[in-house]
Amino acid sequence: MSSHQKPTAIIDCDPGHDDVMAILLGARVLDLRGLTTVFGNVDLEQTTRNARQTVEFAELTAIPIVKGMAQPLVRDIRHGAHVHGESGLDGPTLAPPTVPVREDLATDFLLAQSHEVENLTLVPIGPLTNIATALRLDPSLPERIKEMSVMGGSLTAGNATPTAEFNIWCDPEAAHVVFSSGIPIKMVGLNVTRQVAATPERRGQIRGIGSRTSTHVADMLDFYSERYRVVSGMPGGAMHDPLAVAALVDPDILRFEPMHVAVELRGTHTYGMTVCDARHLRAGSTDALGTPRGETPNAEVAVEVNADRFWELFLDVLATYQ
Ligand code: RIB
Ligand code: CA
Repeated sequence: MSSHQKPTAIIDCDPGHDDVMAILLGARVLDLRGLTTVFGNVDLEQTTRNARQTVEFAELTAIPIVKGMAQPLVRDIRHGAHVHGESGLDGPTLAPPTVPVREDLATDFLLAQSHEVENLTLVPIGPLTNIATALRLDPSLPERIKEMSVMGGSLTAGNATPTAEFNIWCDPEAAHVVFSSGIPIKMVGLNVTRQVAATPERRGQIRGIGSRTSTHVADMLDFYSERYRVVSGMPGGAMHDPLAVAALVDPDILRFEPMHVAVELRGTHTYGMTVCDARHLRAGSTDALGTPRGETPNAEVAVEVNADRFWELFLDVLATYQ
């Protein structure tokens, strides 16, 4: 994709194995202005360390890394070490990081970039705390954001709880701020990301590329997939985060439908659930006056995925690394 067509973007992440896959993909298919880090899979110090190690092993050290929020806005902090291990990137070891972290805060960087760049795209693939805080610091931010491709939520079941997806569940109040912001949102939720698993066959294809990077990625996905097998019985680790990147560059990978998405902030069993209103999609779903039922859509929700098409893109991009 020539550079003038690449979306100019910032990836907001909590590395995490699948975050690393998103960064490798994003570095090639986006005009990637930086990585902002947030707590999530593990604590902020560790997610930031993991982001530094990622840009170093992939030789992407020109991409700035900027630290963000260490805690959720309101709720108690939770992590996902049961999937990603205590370091957040358990599995193959990586050299201790040497690349620096920028001095400024992620929120300052996001706001500054929104003034510097025409049509900035945001790709949050962790809890939405940084994005929500930037919105609270500068309510005019939505005027300068082209769109957000969010790995988060679910049209169907959750993973952190029966109803809530991990990124949203880590900071539901932040997610509410983001989904209420008016920024055009692509919501890439578990209902599609679970259909894209790093099966042994796919990991064999990755290993077959035969480079230093692809071998390391295959080793990472071996660890991640074994955890997924134990935790959820899936045939391979779900490629959640890279799908949020893919959504921005290949319209044939995901199909979206407009829906109103509300984030549940009170439910005993549903706290952090993305309540997606799909009633207007059913034929004849209008009221007596013919007005479509359901609230005005505030997001494009991914409803279908072409997994083969995603793997084509991901494997092609992986083959460009040493
Ligand atoms: O629920 C999946 C999300 O939680 C992904 O972003 C993964 O990295 C974890 O953070
Ligand atoms: Ca993540």
